[in-house]
Amino acid sequence: MFLPTLLILIFLILFGTMIRAGFSGAPWVPTFNKNLLASFKLADIKARETVYDLGCGDGRWLTAAARLTGAKKIIGVEISLLPYVLAQVRRWLSPNRARIKVCWRNFYQLDLSGADVIYIFSLPKVMAKLEPKFKKELHPGARVVSLAFKLPNYQPAEVFKATANGMPLYLYRF
Ligand SMILES: C[S@@+](CC[C@H](N)C(=O)[O-])C[C@H]1O[C@@H](n2cnc3c(N)ncnc32)[C@H](O)[C@@H]1O
Repeated sequence: MFLPTLLILIFLILFGTMIRAGFSGAPWVPTFNKNLLASFKLADIKARETVYDLGCGDGRWLTAAARLTGAKKIIGVEISLLPYVLAQVRRWLSPNRARIKVCWRNFYQLDLSGADVIYIFSLPKVMAKLEPKFKKELHPGARVVSLAFKLPNYQPAEVFKATANGMPLYLYRF
């Protein structure tokens, strides 16, 4: 009796947080590996910069950023428990783990004033909700790269259309 109850509880916790993330932000859909490099090139990430993936999923953008860019600090924020655990495992397996941090947090409640680059793959309603936060908190020179969806009231500085799955990458400069 104890074991089935425990398994049901674990299932509810893992998948309950995924369902909540799907409603509050976006469901977990990983970025294609080929698009990771395109996002780094578009953001033009430099050494000593602090970069964020808002809603980092399984952490693939974080470990690739650590391997392929000189970013000093690479921070992933994830609200859903299962991808958060996978991102932590990925971080531990990375030889660059000292530069990577994964937080189990709601990105709406995060202070973004220290971010030089933000990567996000989310939904239009999330972009609309984050836009005033970006405007208020991001320092001049900070960049946002968004896969698939635009910020509603900003003009992208660049658009990269040739991604692996046909979804555009938008670059915003603040
Ligand atoms: C489309 S997936 C992108 C995953 C990852 N960035 C990638 O590109 O592979 C969006 C992620 O955002 C997470 N998410 C949704 N709302 C969130 C919130 N308010 N705070 C933190 N993460 C959130 C979801 O759980 C999901 O993993």
